Amino acid sequence: MSQTSSAPGKMILLGEHAVVFGQPAIAVAVNLRLRCRMEPATSSTLNGAPLSEISHSYVHHAIRLSGHEGPLALTTASEIPSGSGLGSSAAVSTSLLALLLSRRGSFSGEDVARKAFEVELAVQGRASPVDTSTSVHGRGVLIDNAPGENLLWRIQKDSREWYVHHCDVPRLTFVIGFTGIRASTGPLVAKVKRYHDRTVFARDIIQEIGQLTREGITRLRRGDAVGLGELMTKDHRLLTILGVSSPELDRLVSAALPDSYGAKLTGAGGGGSMIALTDRPKQVSEAIRLKGGIPYEVAIGEDGVRIEH
Ligand code: MEV
Repeated sequence: MSQTSSAPGKMILLGEHAVVFGQPAIAVAVNLRLRCRMEPATSSTLNGAPLSEISHSYVHHAIRLSGHEGPLALTTASEIPSGSGLGSSAAVSTSLLALLLSRRGSFSGEDVARKAFEVELAVQGRASPVDTSTSVHGRGVLIDNAPGENLLWRIQKDSREWYVHHCDVPRLTFVIGFTGIRASTGPLVAKVKRYHDRTVFARDIIQEIGQLTREGITRLRRGDAVGLGELMTKDHRLLTILGVSSPELDRLVSAALPDSYGAKLTGAGGGGSMIALTDRPKQVSEAIRLKGGIPYEVAIGEDGVRIEH
């Protein structure tokens, strides 16, 4: 008998890259979902092709970490463009893990979040739990380095620890601009790590992103679009200094800014997507389109991973 699950994409409002070093981050789930269907089979396949450890690394590691043995036919259908910085890989891992873990009864969100984080570590080498925990919990997620109100779970790796909290999602309007350039997260995270390890300057920038994200938490709670927007634009400049923006991202951010409270790249960068906080979504979408980007007017606060009945 086949079973189906689905998981949302996400956008990081503040704190990407710095969160890998234990700084805070804020992310929200978006109404672009990935669906995963699993059926018993005589050989393992993904969308009809033989399952390969190299080409399907997230799926391979998710199956391994779930402890499942035996062939499976998997089919995915995604509204989240892959390599877009919008959490498509995390959605693959969490939706598949939810299916595999729920075979023994219902799954726990924490269990899926831990295992999906392990999958990212195995594939990318370094990661934070922001993408995977947002895909599991949905709605809004605040990652911090100490426990606070609405704690969901704590995830640790080496000397770094992340406290994952639920975060209420205020009524704010965002437009995503996908550059159309697919970027993989691992090399960008590794690049920032090299920069961090070599220079005090990069370490200071990462601290500064952390500080700005803390301010962002207060602004978000107040629903202060002006304040949050300013911090987003500032964050984009800091991420540019860290070397993870691109000419295409900068072009889309500049195009969106005249009609936005703020704009920045989201996710790993190097291509992928930017986001704009605005109350003029049509104008921002048009400005993004005119500069060659693909706009998405998304709703935020979408449900997390679930089994579809
Ligand atoms: C990617 O969506 C976010 C990064 O901070 C990497 C991570 O947190 O694992 C760049």
